[in-house]
Amino acid sequence: MSTATKHEPAFLKALSGQTLSTPPIWMMRQAGRYLPEYRELRAKAGSFLSLCYNPEMAAEVTLQPIRRFGFDAAILFSDILVVPQALGQKLWFVEGEGPRLEPVADATRLGEINERADPDLLAPVIETVRRVKTSLPQETAFIGFCGAPWTVATYMVAGRGTPDQGPAKALFGSDPALFQQIIDRIVEASIDYLCAQIEAGVDAVQIFDSWAGSLGADDFERWCVTPTRRIVDGVRARHPKSRIIGFPRGAGRLIPRYVAATGVDAVGLESDIDRAFARDEIQSLVPVQGNLDPLVLRSGGPELEREVEAVRAAFGDGPFVFNLGHGILPDTPIAHVERLLAAVRA
Ligand code: CP3
Repeated sequence: MSTATKHEPAFLKALSGQTLSTPPIWMMRQAGRYLPEYRELRAKAGSFLSLCYNPEMAAEVTLQPIRRFGFDAAILFSDILVVPQALGQKLWFVEGEGPRLEPVADATRLGEINERADPDLLAPVIETVRRVKTSLPQETAFIGFCGAPWTVATYMVAGRGTPDQGPAKALFGSDPALFQQIIDRIVEASIDYLCAQIEAGVDAVQIFDSWAGSLGADDFERWCVTPTRRIVDGVRARHPKSRIIGFPRGAGRLIPRYVAATGVDAVGLESDIDRAFARDEIQSLVPVQGNLDPLVLRSGGPELEREVEAVRAAFGDGPFVFNLGHGILPDTPIAHVERLLAAVRA
């Protein structure tokens, strides 16, 4: 066995299709508000975005959950909305509410933003990647990410999070050509951004499509599958061996089509997916990652132990990365995360 193989992080073994007796584990939003050490640095930074753009602090925040829990992978601390900001769209976060952007919902507003992302704006994030890379233990994999074009576009068009993605749907219904231009810009910016992360040292990248589940089959094909495939192809054209995880959250029965058409190496599973279907129709195609319900983790107790077992029973006999079905909730007790790790690694 070569040294490279011997020290290959368990997370990367799972991504390349190996079945491991103990699945590697990390959690979406693992660096975040449920950690007192995060809240402390976040207060020092003043705002969420200043934290994202401060390489020293963002690297520290990325490493916090690794030090505390020893997860098998670190995920870059940043946000999917730095891409629209690099395209020239105004972005800010309202405390306790979430992101706000100046909406881009007509040709005039699209004309005001750039064709290409400004690399100078994203440079601090890439510097964060370099710093984290030098401090990570050998056995810990490093994940970069971007938002998928559909999900990023829902925020760009509405100027905020929306319960039903109504404004973006209204725009692709009334002016599909304009919506396509928005998608095209996100695709190009995301390829450059992911390649820069890979060049700076991430081992894998994840494409977050949090609102994939709100699209019907035809719109899913057009606005989720096709743009994602363009990103996968664009990244692989420059980095043929790059490992790419897709996360079309809520896409359920459309996931096998997504996997086949996009060429992702692995796919994330939301919490409420039918596990037998996911094992038989998705894990038979690619390694899967997920799908513990963040609400169950927050509640803890015997239900948490039971659900960890159910997730492992469903996916443990194939290539699998243990994770949540969505981000950890800010009011999750740290003791529950410790229980989760003990249960998965028992
Ligand atoms: O997973 C990680 O730990 C890496 C960092 C990360 C963040 N956001 C940090 C964050 C990642 C991968 C994201 C992805 C992201 N951001 C998504 C896709 C995944 C998902 O959650 O659906 C989306 C839709 C966003 C946009 C976004 N950022 C929203 C809607 C919000 C507000 C909601 C919230 O949770 O507060 C954010 C803020 C945000 N992004 C925080 C963190 C740690 C909280 C900000 C704070 O500390 O005040």
